[in-house]
Amino acid sequence: MVPPRKRRAKTAIHPRREFILGIVSNLPAEITVPGEDALTVLTRHVSLDMTACNAAILARMDSPVALIPQLAAHIVAAGGKRLRPVLTLASARLCGYAGGLRHVNLAACVEFIHTATLLHDDVVDESQLRRGLASANAVFGNKASVLVGDFLFARAFQLMVADGSLDVLRILSAAAATIAEGEVLQLVTQNDLTTTEDRYLDVIKGKTAALFAAACEVGAVVADRPEPEAVALRNYGMHLGIAFQLVDDALDYAADQATLGKTVGDDFREGKVTLPVLAAYAGSDETGRAFWRRTIEDSEQTEADLDEAMRLMAETGAIRITLDRAAAFAGRAKADLAIFPDSDLRSALMGVADYTVSRVR
Ligand code: IPE
Ligand code: IPE
Ligand code: MG
Ligand code: MG
Repeated sequence: MVPPRKRRAKTAIHPRREFILGIVSNLPAEITVPGEDALTVLTRHVSLDMTACNAAILARMDSPVALIPQLAAHIVAAGGKRLRPVLTLASARLCGYAGGLRHVNLAACVEFIHTATLLHDDVVDESQLRRGLASANAVFGNKASVLVGDFLFARAFQLMVADGSLDVLRILSAAAATIAEGEVLQLVTQNDLTTTEDRYLDVIKGKTAALFAAACEVGAVVADRPEPEAVALRNYGMHLGIAFQLVDDALDYAADQATLGKTVGDDFREGKVTLPVLAAYAGSDETGRAFWRRTIEDSEQTEADLDEAMRLMAETGAIRITLDRAAAFAGRAKADLAIFPDSDLRSALMGVADYTVSRVR
């Protein structure tokens, strides 16, 4: 089958795209470049590892069934921040790993799990834009997206098995199951304004933070470090992941779409009960609450409703509340790293916690 020509959406090209496609800066990590964000700084700490990881990703997405590499290349070459594999690589280095390429292959494995979930998620969410391009489901259709997502999951499991550690297999396979549970739990809370903040936190811990936690923990495991270090990195990843998804849920109402590379307002149209909605609902008067019940619970929406939702969020401080909550989790993530000796790499990991809160894409 000849896939339809890629349609580039009218958005800015991802500024990290050159890096992601393998053109990595040779600058030593100690040199700071004005204007660089903390993720770029952390990525430069592991730039050689990341080059190897990108090569592993490209090699392992190959298949004699041509549609698989075509579709996978569509989403992989579109970029993405590569945050999770960078966390695996940096965690391994923080723990002093110098034993070969296990961390590189596991970083690729983590990105495969992430990419598979994105392919499935865009089908479930009916999203049309991903990483600044038409989503894979928009270009290749739902069936191909689901099946290639399955392939990437299976590839991830092959990489875990090739690593040979039962601990690694236990951590990453548990994360894969937890992500699916989180996505299903989210489906159950959809359109339900009686959802509590705790239940919402369960959703985002499952669908997002579990993979961040596992990505960091396996770094410690390959370095064969004592349990407290693995636990600290796991906690760091968990808190970072919660902050990351809180901000994602704020950006769904507050971002510049071209910068975000995803369609703003998808969560609203889907009736997702995220913290911005819960906070706005709690802070609205009776007229406002009737608006949320109609749009989120009854899924009765008009074109103008997204603007009204954003106005009510501004009025009630819902975005601020969400970002404040994210900042608190980012603070916990930084504190989790206190057991490691001070180093540039530890500072860079702490910097990424702040980046997660201030990010715009
Ligand atoms: C998107 O994750 C899915 C969420 C958990 C919100 P990212 O924002 O890390 O996606 P990419 O990989 O950079 O595109
Ligand atoms: C991301 O969830 C998917 C997973 C974490 C499995 P969302 O649906 O909230 O994220 P985006 O906005 O599509 O990236
Ligand atoms: Mg989605
Ligand atoms: Mg989703």
